[in-house]
Amino acid sequence: MPSGSRSSKPAGRADAISLLTQDHRKVKRLLNSLDRTTDRATNRRETLLKQIETEIKMHSQLEEEIFYPVYRDAVRKSDGHLYYESLEEHHLVDIVLSELNSAKVNSEEFGAKGKVLKDLIDHHAEEEETEMFPKARKVMGADQLRELGNQLRERKQTLQSGLLTRAARTAGAAFDSVLSKVGRKSAA
Ligand SMILES: [Fe+2]
Ligand SMILES: [Fe+2]
Repeated sequence: MPSGSRSSKPAGRADAISLLTQDHRKVKRLLNSLDRTTDRATNRRETLLKQIETEIKMHSQLEEEIFYPVYRDAVRKSDGHLYYESLEEHHLVDIVLSELNSAKVNSEEFGAKGKVLKDLIDHHAEEEETEMFPKARKVMGADQLRELGNQLRERKQTLQSGLLTRAARTAGAAFDSVLSKVGRKSAA
């Protein structure tokens, strides 16, 4: 497919499973890029880690707030273990993410933790795509999955605009601090 081309399916019609699967593809692409970096590519590693963390946290929050509870109620006891297992896997992913944030980006340790995160996400996404999502398709029905898709899209937009506002505030505060330093110097 040429880059920049779009699927013929209108974006607004994608159901919950399609949206969550699209998120998986994006995070996997970013993790593969991180895995290919060398210890010397510190700026690239920092940029990728920020993107990966933002995408993973937003995705996990969307699943935990919107998709998982409906899935748990729909399957009741028959496949409830996947719900609990998935929550534990999100928890593990959070731990590795926070360790990655504490590791030196130019270290082999960082590379190793990045690989562990990639393996964890590969396993988790595969379990969702091959076990949880097919089961959800069976028990939830197309209308419910489309409605959940709308809820996911709306919530994601809210989370993204919250992130943008925070980023703008941080940038504004940094700018003010530079201005005040420059002001102090010129007044001296
Ligand atoms: Fe998940
Ligand atoms: Fe997922």
